[in-house]
Amino acid sequence: MANRDSQVTIHMAASLDGFIARRDGRVDWLETADEIAGGETMDPGFVEAFLKTIDCYVMGSRTYETALRFEAEGFGWAYGDKPTFVLTSRELPRTRDTVQFYSGDLATFVNDRLRPTFPTIWFVGGGVVSGECLRLGLADEVRYSILPILIGDGIPFFEKLDRDIALHLMEVKAYKSGMVELRYEVRGRRD
Ligand SMILES: NC(=O)c1ccc[n+]([C@@H]2O[C@H](COP(=O)([O-])OP(=O)(O)OC[C@H]3O[C@@H](n4cnc5c(N)ncnc54)[C@H](OP(=O)(O)O)[C@@H]3O)[C@@H](O)[C@H]2O)c1
Repeated sequence: MANRDSQVTIHMAASLDGFIARRDGRVDWLETADEIAGGETMDPGFVEAFLKTIDCYVMGSRTYETALRFEAEGFGWAYGDKPTFVLTSRELPRTRDTVQFYSGDLATFVNDRLRPTFPTIWFVGGGVVSGECLRLGLADEVRYSILPILIGDGIPFFEKLDRDIALHLMEVKAYKSGMVELRYEVRGRRD
């Protein structure tokens, strides 16, 4: 039984033309050189406090493989000590106790296993899993961080949606770095 008090958020960063990675998976373009006067800055204390409000992460196997690669290159693990659920049908390396693997029906997993336990559930990509989450009507909120760059081609934010999904704009923040953060509620979820 789904816990109606829990919240499923999809969050990713994308180029202005809607790509989360180049076709070959590279995200080198995430570092941009823009600067705008009067933009907001990320206060590390605020970010740390905010991350504490996230109870678990969900990601696709290709995003997990990117995270493992980043870690091997010395950039650390972005998901702290929070439970991190990786969707995969393959045998992948498990580098920490907080990582668990799941294969199967995503709606059953989110509604029966995650929602009763975790109030705040963050889907952190990639495009395949975000598309699956929206198609199945599982997301309550979409957070979209747009970077000041166009890359022309790549992996789209949401793979293969089969219908329109109406959103309600909740918040807009423009950062000094030129990044714009949009927060939307998925309409009809709370009715
Ligand atoms: N810009 C950003 O904020 C951002 C965020 C996240 C990711 N990314 C980038 O996006 C790329 C990855 O995105 P992607 O769309 O290609 O892949 P993805 O969504 O990360 O992973 C898709 C894979 O997850 C597995 N999967 C999905 N649903 C499943 C289910 N219900 N049961 C079992 N397995 C399931 C399948 O792989 P198996 O073959 O393992 O079963 C599927 O091919 C990477 O390059 C990453 O760096 C960028």
